[in-house]
Amino acid sequence: MPTDSFEIEGLAAERKLEGKLAINGAKNAVIKVLAAAILFKDEVRLDNVPAIEDVFRMEELLGHLGAEVTEEGPNKFLINTSQINEWRVDEGISKRLRASVVATGPLLARLGKVHFPHPGGCVIGKRPIDIFLEGFQAMGATLKEDEKGYDLKAPDGLTGAEIFLKVPSVTATETFLMTAVLAKGKTVIKNAALEPEICSLGNFLKSCGANIEGLGTPTITVAGDGLLSGVNKTYTTMPDRIEAGSFIILAALLAKDLEIFNCDPTHLDSLIHLLKQSGVKMEVGKDYIRIKDDQGDFKAVDIKTHEYPGFPTDLQAPMSIFLTQALGQSFVFETIFEGRLNYLETLARFGANTRVLDAHRAIIEGKTKLHGKEVESPDLRAGLAYVLAGLVAEGKSIVHNVYYIDRGYERIDERLAKVGALIRRTA
Ligand code: EPU
Repeated sequence: MPTDSFEIEGLAAERKLEGKLAINGAKNAVIKVLAAAILFKDEVRLDNVPAIEDVFRMEELLGHLGAEVTEEGPNKFLINTSQINEWRVDEGISKRLRASVVATGPLLARLGKVHFPHPGGCVIGKRPIDIFLEGFQAMGATLKEDEKGYDLKAPDGLTGAEIFLKVPSVTATETFLMTAVLAKGKTVIKNAALEPEICSLGNFLKSCGANIEGLGTPTITVAGDGLLSGVNKTYTTMPDRIEAGSFIILAALLAKDLEIFNCDPTHLDSLIHLLKQSGVKMEVGKDYIRIKDDQGDFKAVDIKTHEYPGFPTDLQAPMSIFLTQALGQSFVFETIFEGRLNYLETLARFGANTRVLDAHRAIIEGKTKLHGKEVESPDLRAGLAYVLAGLVAEGKSIVHNVYYIDRGYERIDERLAKVGALIRRTA
């Protein structure tokens, strides 16, 4: 399917970006709250919802399940969940949106059964779902697997269980947190992930009557107590820390005077720490970060991706663009996904000095001049990294297949153009 492209006229590393960039609601928070709608007997209201592809797919998925989604205003949605009755997750949507796997647990818990296709791997890695399947079975579901996908059944409902996650998976933590709300008795999730999006989801469920303790810690306890009610409640989507981080990296590279606002800098301690260590000067406010042109040379720094509050894997590719402009040798250690360094080969075509050591480790040697190139976006974060590379480079770049970028960044071309980037969308 051909999608739009971005044409970018590079700034040749000159600091020309000026103005303010507002951060939108977080993709990885709101899509889980959309799945959580399945836990509600009546309705759920959401505010500050970003207009991005992954949100549209999730709304479509809810529609297939029997929910009614109404747009109440810009970025505001009302979901009526009283008629949810479909237990088969739509294959087309599921294949396009891996995160749709978070809907499986709530459906199983609500309807006593669920069928969903193999979500498959993707360009960033294998992405197995063994933790999910093991947990559902621990809660009393029976599993049948065939070439079409997975059939899970629990006709008498699920029961609370102790679930140890072999790795602190974000979506598995969220899935069991939600599923446990409708299970009978107590569920304890051990080695739970700590990401702020999980706390945001959990706190909303609590405000609607769920009994949850331990959010933001590795042990989360949920006492199941039946369907929730969302009447007179609104979920306001938290700011997207990955979008904020991406724009902060952009500002470090090209800001004359740029303020990234509507964000929560406390969610970005690892990035801010690393950028400061590299020599980036910035003003960190309560809900903004401002970067000006009073910068010197940047020093190489090593990055190692880690679960929150460590350095986010989702910022690894954007940060690598920064490292091409820092003096010296930086090591990049991607510990979460085995396919998330593949973009470095293409980055080398821009003129970056990169050496991939194995599936998880690479070296970037800076500082190098980048030159505009015509490239294909392979996934969301690598695609964004190519946009950053194109903006830093000298000459013209074309980034094709921006569907992937639109999945997570709303109208990024228009927003960046407003602060002085020379970027336009072509069909
Ligand atoms: N894993 C398993 N078995 C499972 C599930 C996960 O072995 O059943 C492994 C994965 O293979 C991986 C590790 O656990 O090595 C951690 O992956 P995790 O499950 O935490 O990733 P995720 O929940 O699928 C979310 C975000 C990703 C983000 C990762 C890591 C959403 C919708 N997605 O994915 O976001 O990279 O956490 O922080 O929340 C993105 O926004 O671009 C994106 C890919």
